[in-house]
Amino acid sequence: MINPIFSAADDRYESGMKYRRCGKSGIMLPEISLGLWQNFGDTSPLSRSRDMILHAFDKGICHFDLANNYGPSYGSAESTFGKIMQSDLRPYRDELFISTKAGYDMWPGPYGDRGSRKYLISSLDQSLRRMNLEYVDIFYSHRFDPETPLDETMQALVDIVRSGKALYAGISNYPAEAAEYAYRYLRDHDVPCLLHQLKYNMLHRIPEDEGLLEQADANGSGFIAFSPLAQGLLTDRYLNGIPDDSRAARNFTLRKDTLTDEMIGNLRRLDQLASDRGQSLAQMALAWVLRDKRVTSVIVGASSVGQLEGNIQAIGNTCFSAEEEALINELTR
Ligand SMILES: NC(=O)c1ccc[n+]([C@@H]2O[C@H](COP(=O)([O-])OP(=O)(O)OC[C@H]3O[C@@H](n4cnc5c(N)ncnc54)[C@H](OP(=O)(O)O)[C@@H]3O)[C@@H](O)[C@H]2O)c1
Repeated sequence: MINPIFSAADDRYESGMKYRRCGKSGIMLPEISLGLWQNFGDTSPLSRSRDMILHAFDKGICHFDLANNYGPSYGSAESTFGKIMQSDLRPYRDELFISTKAGYDMWPGPYGDRGSRKYLISSLDQSLRRMNLEYVDIFYSHRFDPETPLDETMQALVDIVRSGKALYAGISNYPAEAAEYAYRYLRDHDVPCLLHQLKYNMLHRIPEDEGLLEQADANGSGFIAFSPLAQGLLTDRYLNGIPDDSRAARNFTLRKDTLTDEMIGNLRRLDQLASDRGQSLAQMALAWVLRDKRVTSVIVGASSVGQLEGNIQAIGNTCFSAEEEALINELTR
C-alpha cells in the first residue's frame, strides 16, 4: 500500500511540549523523547510504528532514541526508522534529533560487541545505512567496557564526531568513575559529552543515589532517563493482571516475577496518589523524573499511539509536595 504523503502538524511546537537545555550546550531537547528499543522492530506492524513516530513528531517530540540492536530483530528498529525517514520525515531532517549507540552485542565474532574502535565505527556505518541517514545527531558508547582502554572508546567517539557522522557524542550506563574519565577525555578533545543516558525511575534511583545526576550537571552534560515507566510497571498496565500483549507477558526484559503481590499493592497506592493529583500513574511517574531540572528529557517507550498521547500529558504538572515525595519514597524504596 502506498502511504499518504505526510504533512506534519503546523502547531507541532505550540501544542504544549516543553524543551530543556541539554547541559551547557546549544541543544534543547523535548521533555519527552520517544525510544525505539521495543515495539518498532520487524515483528511489529510497520503501520503502527509509523503512526507512533509521526504522532510523536506532530506533538513536538523531535528526539528519537535508537541503538544498533533495537528490534527485535537486531537492527530492525533502525530499518523501520529508515523507512519512515524515506517515506515521511525526509523534509524534516533538520528538525529531528536522532541518536544511535553501540556497545552491546550486535553481530557474531570479536568485533560486534563492547567498546573497541573497530566495533563503534563499523557499527555506526551500518546504522546510518539502515536509517537512511548521512549523520546522526548523537552517537553513544552504549556501555562502559572495562576490557577496552577507555581512551580507545573515547577517541573513537571524538573521531566519529570529527568525521561528521555524528554531531555530538554521549555515554550510556557508565559507572561514576568511568563517566568522570569520559567527561574529561571528551572535553580535553573539544568534543564535550552532550548526554549521559541512564535508567532512572521511581523504582530505580541509582542516578541520584550514586551521584550520577549531579556529576553530569557538574560536567556540563545533559542527563536523559531511560525506562522512566520501569518498562510499564509504573502504569495501569499490570494493576489487574498481566495482559497477553504486554511486555511482562513476553517475560524477557520485564520478568513476570517482578509483579509480586507487594509490588502490585504498592502500584495501586501509587495509582491512587496519581489520581489525587489528576494524573494517570504513567503521567505521575514521568512527571516525577522530570521534577528534577537536571534531567533534560525522559525517553518513553510505547506500544500504541494512545499510550504515547497519555504520556505526553505528563508535562503539565511536575511539582511534588513533600508529603507526596514521602509517600512515593515509602512505596518505592
Ligand atoms: N541506554 C540503554 O541502555 C537503554 C536501555 C533501555 C531503554 N533505553 C531507551 O529508553 C527507551 C524507553 O525504554 P522503555 O521502553 O523501557 O521505557 P518505559 O517508558 O519505561 O516503558 C515502555 C512500556 O511501558 C508501557 N507503557 C508506556 N506508556 C504507557 C501508558 N501510558 N499506559 C500503559 N502502559 C504504558 C508499554 O508497555 P507494553 O509494550 O507492554 O504496552 C511500553 O512499551 C527505549 O526505547 C530506548 O530508547 C535505553
